[in-house]
Amino acid sequence: MQKRQQPGRRTVLGAAALGAGAAVLGGAGQASAAGRDGAPRELPVPLIVGHRGASGYRPEHTFGSYQLALDMGADVIEQDLVPTKDGHLVCRHENDITATTDVSAHPEFAARKTTKTVDGVQLTGWFTEDFTLAELKTLRAKERIPGTRQHNTLYDGRWQVPTFEEVLQWAEREGRKRGRRVWLHIETKHPTYFRKLGLGLEERVAEALRAHGRHRRNSPNFLQSFEPSSIQRLGKLVDCPKVVLLGTLKDRPWDFVASGDPRTVADLVKPEGLRWIAGFAEGIGPDLTVIIPRDKDNKLGTPTSVVKDAHAAGLVLHPYTVRNENTFLPADFRKGTDPNAYGDSLGVFKAYLATGIDGLFSDNCDTALLAAAEFRKR
Ligand code: G3P
Ligand code: CA
Repeated sequence: MQKRQQPGRRTVLGAAALGAGAAVLGGAGQASAAGRDGAPRELPVPLIVGHRGASGYRPEHTFGSYQLALDMGADVIEQDLVPTKDGHLVCRHENDITATTDVSAHPEFAARKTTKTVDGVQLTGWFTEDFTLAELKTLRAKERIPGTRQHNTLYDGRWQVPTFEEVLQWAEREGRKRGRRVWLHIETKHPTYFRKLGLGLEERVAEALRAHGRHRRNSPNFLQSFEPSSIQRLGKLVDCPKVVLLGTLKDRPWDFVASGDPRTVADLVKPEGLRWIAGFAEGIGPDLTVIIPRDKDNKLGTPTSVVKDAHAAGLVLHPYTVRNENTFLPADFRKGTDPNAYGDSLGVFKAYLATGIDGLFSDNCDTALLAAAEFRKR
């Protein structure tokens, strides 16, 4: 397999106004223990992000999930953030908490069930912005996809919904215990929607980061959002490295829809779009299919030029999300007929890592780390 070193890449990263961030963001050529200046690099390349913690093994966004991801050796632990009615940030993949908490079993909250349109999608359920933090804390988290991850239902009801503040305190505690910094990958969810409700996310994220001294260029967090304007707003408030998330090629960021910007992800991953992103972010987090599309038979196709083009623009790539179960894998990497059984996910990890990406989100960080180890030696 081809060596990952890409001549000129370090120079490009250095020119991307990363400053101290370049060292921690990494990139090809920084996979070894020491970087170009001889200083030890804190994060390996490629790095593995524990997606919603270790969500392949525990209900997502719980301390059970975050702790397991850290114990398994994930380099970075992901949080998705939404607000409560009284303005606290909590860790949930979305504001609709119907599938990931026991809220439907609480008769005192039955009347809170409602129908809303979030980013153009009509949803019926219970929503974080209709609960105070004290109310939300009476709920217990549960497995989102019990049909696929029956084993995770063992932990239903064990943990509360964590606040962002609790996660920051946990990261500090764990960092002290381990003698190293605990890295977080922090996403603002539905930022345009929440700003319209008077619950702007970015100021709250920045305030929390500042309170914990995590607002600097070399602080151990990445900030991420599917809405470029959220990343731009965050960039004015804190100096942390930032990653613009990108959906599939046909998708259009919701803030673009709201402002009338016609560009789609397909436009943003062209060299011009990538140069635009590099003006205010240090990386992109594309859907996996942007890196390697699937063909008409749902098999893994041929890698696109996006890795090369993003690196040329000075951007690192943290695509998402590899999961071990057959149902999530390309057809040619499935094993047997049970959609919930594990397929050849190691093969999928390797195919993506071979493209030269700088990091990868996975629900199964232990499997991802096993695959990544092979690439870190190169
Ligand atoms: O943030 C990376 C990845 O998590 C993006 O997708 O929908 O799981 O937040 P989502
Ligand atoms: Ca996310």
